[in-house]
Amino acid sequence: MTTQEKVLIADDDESIRWVLESFFRDLGYEVIQADNGTDASDLLGTVKPELAILDINMPGRDGLEVLKKAASGISAEVTTETTPVIIMTAETSMSNTIEAMKLGAFDYVSKPFDLAELEIIVGRAKEKRELQARLLKLNQKLRDREEDENAFIGKSKAMEQVFKAIGRAAPTDVAVLLTGESGTGKEQLSRVIHMHSSRSEGPFIAVNSAAVPKELLESELFGHEKGAFTGATEMKFGKFELANKGTLFLDEVGDMSLDLQARLLRVTQDGEFYRLGGKKPVRVDVRIVAATNIDMNKAVTEKKFREDLYHRLNGIRIELPPLREREEDIGLLVEHFMLRFPHELKCSAKRLSPKAHQALETYRWSGNVRELENVLRRAVLLSPGAVITEEDLELPNSKKRQPSLEEIITEKLRPVIERADHQQQHDLYDLCMPYMEGPLIRLVLEKVRGNQVQAAEVLGINRNTLRKKIKQLDINMKKIKGAE
Ligand SMILES: Nc1ncnc2c1ncn2[C@@H]1O[C@H](COP(=O)(O)OP(=O)(O)OP(=O)(O)O)[C@@H](O)[C@H]1O
Ligand SMILES: [Mg+2]
Repeated sequence: MTTQEKVLIADDDESIRWVLESFFRDLGYEVIQADNGTDASDLLGTVKPELAILDINMPGRDGLEVLKKAASGISAEVTTETTPVIIMTAETSMSNTIEAMKLGAFDYVSKPFDLAELEIIVGRAKEKRELQARLLKLNQKLRDREEDENAFIGKSKAMEQVFKAIGRAAPTDVAVLLTGESGTGKEQLSRVIHMHSSRSEGPFIAVNSAAVPKELLESELFGHEKGAFTGATEMKFGKFELANKGTLFLDEVGDMSLDLQARLLRVTQDGEFYRLGGKKPVRVDVRIVAATNIDMNKAVTEKKFREDLYHRLNGIRIELPPLREREEDIGLLVEHFMLRFPHELKCSAKRLSPKAHQALETYRWSGNVRELENVLRRAVLLSPGAVITEEDLELPNSKKRQPSLEEIITEKLRPVIERADHQQQHDLYDLCMPYMEGPLIRLVLEKVRGNQVQAAEVLGINRNTLRKKIKQLDINMKKIKGAE
């Protein structure tokens, strides 16, 4: 059932309110009335009607004042965008009408009014309001999606440092230099910085210095005038101009030629540059976030990168740690991608088997988050069943890290502990420890072919202690392989 839409009628003339009330009732509206501007304004805020029709001449606050207030927003939820306002004028006073339209009235009717005309206006107001509501919803959806795509995941100590640095850097206009291995999330982070800056409403423009051919990079960055060079048949804006009032992300900045570095330095100093072939300087207000995965200090010493430019770009430096140094983040990233991919790839959701999970956590991710993302995407797309197995991941053996002793034991112990009834069980420690000691001593004895002197040495315990343990644990020396 749809709830009834509400209309606010504000007029000091009772007979007009009476006419309008029956008119709107017939249209299916719930009618709320006010006989003065102050009440009308309050009711807009509390009742949040879908439509308002206001007389201009009313005691107290007049209709135009109420409209003005509504235009700037009675509250976050009630504005002339959400609640179209129709103004009633007693005589066709042109100046009042113009004023009302300027203030954001949806339309006006002059008294005495023609109800058929009013009905058309009301119909259009309803259409506009519904369109507006749909747009708002759509925008919210887009924002949610953008936020999800730009989520920056991590909870490790190393990433905590990164988050702190973002918090410091984002609101300022200081240049940021992002360093870190390939795939650690430098570009993603540059978007996050933009989104959290005062420039978030402005553009975010990315240029990859390594991907654009050297001869084109200059015009890519600074634009060119018509006829600046052969082939320049049109004037073209450069990325610097496109990023005005926003953020320019300079990826692989370490690969830039010394010529371009000189030009870049000038923009960062003066906020001005010339388009190729241009005679007039162009002023821009751009925040630069640069990224590189080369060692910049080394590049500066080797004179491949200008020291002055390096200091300009290096306002705040954020180093992204490689994924293998923050294993705690792997699980979170996996969860994030497993939720995202079904939407992105338009396929059904899948689950990872416990073994697949473990394989992901112990793999050496030399390609960092990008490699993890790619492995998971492929598995989600190509695994035959709903559960992704370790084999589906197709991780090369060479980069699998051997799980540690603790990890192995933890995994083996887990089902035992899960089965234990914590209400009944009171001897889990005594129950489990011999099971750890037993296999340990038995295996060592096997390895040294039953030689107890050697076994005690390998274990690092006293020979007598070993003998006692063998007895206690009921280890049958005759069954030890290789022992005579
Ligand atoms: N912390 C993170 N949370 C979520 N996704 C991430 C994170 N870090 C990286 N990614 C994802 O991993 C992929 C690689 O990240 P990005 O392109 O930002 O890396 P990069 O450091 O710029 O790599 P390169 O130096 O190779 O250009 C992207 O798809 C990005 O969305
Ligand atoms: Mg990148």
